[in-house]
This record gives sequence, C-alpha cells and structure tokens, in this order.
Amino acid sequence: MSTLKIDVRTAPLGSPDLITYFVKGDALPAGVPISEFDGTICSTLLLRDKTGRTLVVGLGDKEKIEPDTLRRATGAAIKHLLKIGGTEAALDLTLYPDHVAPAVEGAILASYKFLGFGKDPSKKTRGVLDKLQLLVTEHEVTNARVQAHDAEIIATITNTIRDIGNLPGNMLTPPILAEKAEELAKDRANLTVKIWNERHLARDGFGGILAVGNGSAHPPRLIVLEYLGAGKKDKPVALVGKAVTFDTGGISIKPGAQMDEMKWDKMGGLAVIGILLAAADLKLPINIIGLIPAAENMPGPDAYRPGDIITTLDGKTIEVLNTDAEGRIILADAIAHARLTYKPSAIIEYSTLTGAVVMALGYRRAGLFTSEDKLRDALVTAGKTTGELVWPLPVDEEYKEGTASEVATVKNIGGREGSACISASFVKTWAEDVPFVHLDIAGTAWTTKPPAHLEGGATGFGVRLTLQALRAGLPV
Ligand code: BES
Ligand code: MN
Ligand code: ZN
Repeated sequence: MSTLKIDVRTAPLGSPDLITYFVKGDALPAGVPISEFDGTICSTLLLRDKTGRTLVVGLGDKEKIEPDTLRRATGAAIKHLLKIGGTEAALDLTLYPDHVAPAVEGAILASYKFLGFGKDPSKKTRGVLDKLQLLVTEHEVTNARVQAHDAEIIATITNTIRDIGNLPGNMLTPPILAEKAEELAKDRANLTVKIWNERHLARDGFGGILAVGNGSAHPPRLIVLEYLGAGKKDKPVALVGKAVTFDTGGISIKPGAQMDEMKWDKMGGLAVIGILLAAADLKLPINIIGLIPAAENMPGPDAYRPGDIITTLDGKTIEVLNTDAEGRIILADAIAHARLTYKPSAIIEYSTLTGAVVMALGYRRAGLFTSEDKLRDALVTAGKTTGELVWPLPVDEEYKEGTASEVATVKNIGGREGSACISASFVKTWAEDVPFVHLDIAGTAWTTKPPAHLEGGATGFGVRLTLQALRAGLPV
C-alpha cells in the first residue's frame, strides 16, 4: 500500500485535481445542462479548463446531508479520479468544516483496491492516491487537522485489514493470520499479543477451536490482543471475532456456487484486529481485549463430524449436527475465555455467522443481537454516524429451545425458522451473565456488487462502527 500525504490548507498547492461538492439545486457550472448533472449523491461531473481538472460530486438534498453523505460522495469522487489516472486531489471542504473526518475516511477507503497477483504492476490501469489536500478556511485549520489525523489512522488501518481479508484461503491460513497479527501489533505502545498454537489449545481445553480446525492441514490458533489504555484495575471490554480462514462447510460440505466467497469468513476476526490496532494508535483511554479464534473448516480424515460431542473451555458441551455451523463453536471457546480470564464489563462479538441474516437484512445492515438496551442504542447511533448500519433483532430466551439437546448442553443447529436469532442465542450461552452483543456481519463484511464509493471485496465492517462507539463512551 502506498503512503499517502495529507495536508490541511486554505488554498490548493501545485496542480491537484480539485474535488468540489454540489447540493441539489445549486447553480450548475456554465454550459452544463441539468440532464447531465443534477447533484444526486455520488454522481460525478468532470470539468476541464486551463487551470486543470475539477470533479464535481453530488451530495443530494441539502437537508439530508450527514457525515456519511460526505464519506460516500468523497469516496465516489476519488474512485472516479483514480480511474482517470489522478494521483493528487484537493477536497474543497470550506463549506463542510465539521465533516473533514468522514471526507478523509471516504477518500482513503475509496483509494484501496486489492491488487491480486495476476496483472503486471507496471501496467497500471488506475492512479494511486499520493497526495490529499484538505481545503478549509483559516480559522478551521486546527479543527480540520485534528479530524484528519484520527480519520487517517482509522481508514488506513481499515484498509490494512481489508487487504489481509482479501487474501485467499491458501495464502491466509490460521498460523499466517496469527503471524500477521503479531507483526502488526509489535511496534504499538500498550498493545501485546498472545498466540495459542494447537498444543496450547489442547493443554488449556479449547475443545471447540480444536474440533473445527482438525480437518485442516493448517492448524487452528487463538489470537489474543490486549490493549491497556487505562489503569490496570479498569475492567476491559472484550471484542471477539470469528476468523474461519476458509469455510468449506466441513463434512457437511457446502455447494460449489460462490464457495470462494468463504475466504471472507474471517472478517469478524480481522475487524477485531483492526479495532485494537486503531485503539492503540488513537491512544484511547480504555482497556480492550481482542480475542480471535482462527480455524480452517475442511473435510478430511481427522475432521469433526455430525454427531460428535465437543467439550468447550468452560465445560459446556456441544452436539454437532452440522459441521457447517462452525463459527459458533470456535466463538464459544473464545467467549468463555474472555469471561473467565478478563472479567470484562461487556463482550461484543463479530461474525459472518449466518446466511439467514442476509436473507433478513440484505447487504447494507448487520444484525445486532443483545438484551442490553444501552449497548444497543450506542451501537445503533454509532452505526448512523459511520454509515456502518446495524439493525436490532431479538435474542430472547424463547430462542434457547431451538438448540436444546438430549445429549449435550446445546446442539449446534436449530430449525431454519428464526435461525439467525437461534444462532445468536447459541453464542450468548457462553457469555453467561456478562453483557453481550452479537453482530452478525455475514451480509456486510464483503461486497461483490460494490457501491460507487468502494471497490469490491472485504469492507472492514465493524472497525469504524466500534471505534465510534468506544470514543463516544460505551455505556458499560
Ligand atoms: N460462514 C457461514 C455463514 C455465511 C453464509 C456467511 C453465507 C455469509 C454468506 C456459516 O459458517 C454457515 O455456514 N452458516 C450456516 C449455518 C447453518 C448450517 C445452520 C448457514 O447460514 O447456512
Ligand atoms: Mn459454515
Ligand atoms: Zn462460517
């Protein structure tokens, strides 16, 4: 990834491409008919004159402008600019001094594209954003610098985890993910990493992570990141993220269509890694523990099988009736470890857990399952600010019936009806009385039909949402 230079200025320096924002009803540039540009959000209009290029981007209706409007519109403009070879942009933010952060985030997020391993890198088909100037009035310079600083940290780290997330299963196994987490955490203050390999997992009784990982030649890991930004005595918040580096379904194997997308079944874990890295860089004054159970779900001679009974870390048992419901099994161990070892004030868990949540909510909103009203409200609000929308779904006691088992504490699947809720109820079992939030990000963790402001692939969903909630002061 390139290193971007960001500058806050009152006038452009050199000859960057200028990006200006347009609200519906604004006067059109001379010679442009309304049929060509009406200011719809994310629509763009390229103008050229002797001084250079100006890209006008629509913000839609004035009354509806919110932070995410600037984020998306800036993203769409940057994506357009990169396509036409641009490398230096100046954003005219003089009218939007309080939306500098989302504009910077939008620009950085839109400038990321997974390069892959096929094309000759010398035959670039698209520019790389090298320089970004932020134009504001004199008395907003300090305000803009503060916003840009934090936004750059958050968006750059999001791109880092998107880039790891887009690696396919053969290139990103659980041991490789653990190494990457170690490398990324290494030089950051107040951040430490602990890795459990397969021997450590067996020694300590992580029966769930071991069972799911057993079919693969690439053994499972548990990655724990500890960020201490407050006093040692302050209770931490625990973040748990599912990292199935590839989900074939195991013995209950998945159909072939779109199975490649299951390389993104690790995005919950990567979101947690991203949140911890950013918290350290932002020096948040809180303690956070990140727990990432990582396994590859494969069929094979040693794979776990339907009918197996697994003992998890805290002694609760699981009757396996479908090896494709594997995420909840590795999460069980990690949630138990969070509760028993760290006594957290709350546990928030991120997983691409069910196809059912995609049927319920589609690709724009993640399912939010919690019985804690204040946590729910904090996350819904943070979702609106960041554009990482979450929608509350129930996880009441009634869903426990769905996973009642004759031979174990629970079975790992219920019926199809309400299965996103039943799955949420399953993972909640291991949190016991610790305030718990489950975020099912199956529909939002990656995109194969990218919107105007993003490239396809991993989105990094959850990073900005959670940092926003944490910075606003999570009510725990
Ligand atoms: N990783 C999948 C969930 C998933 C499916 C995410 C499609 C995104 C798109 C998960 O491990 C899984 O396979 N869930 C099953 C559960 C079922 C067997 C109870 C599902 O949703 O079909
Ligand atoms: Mn699965
Ligand atoms: Zn899965």
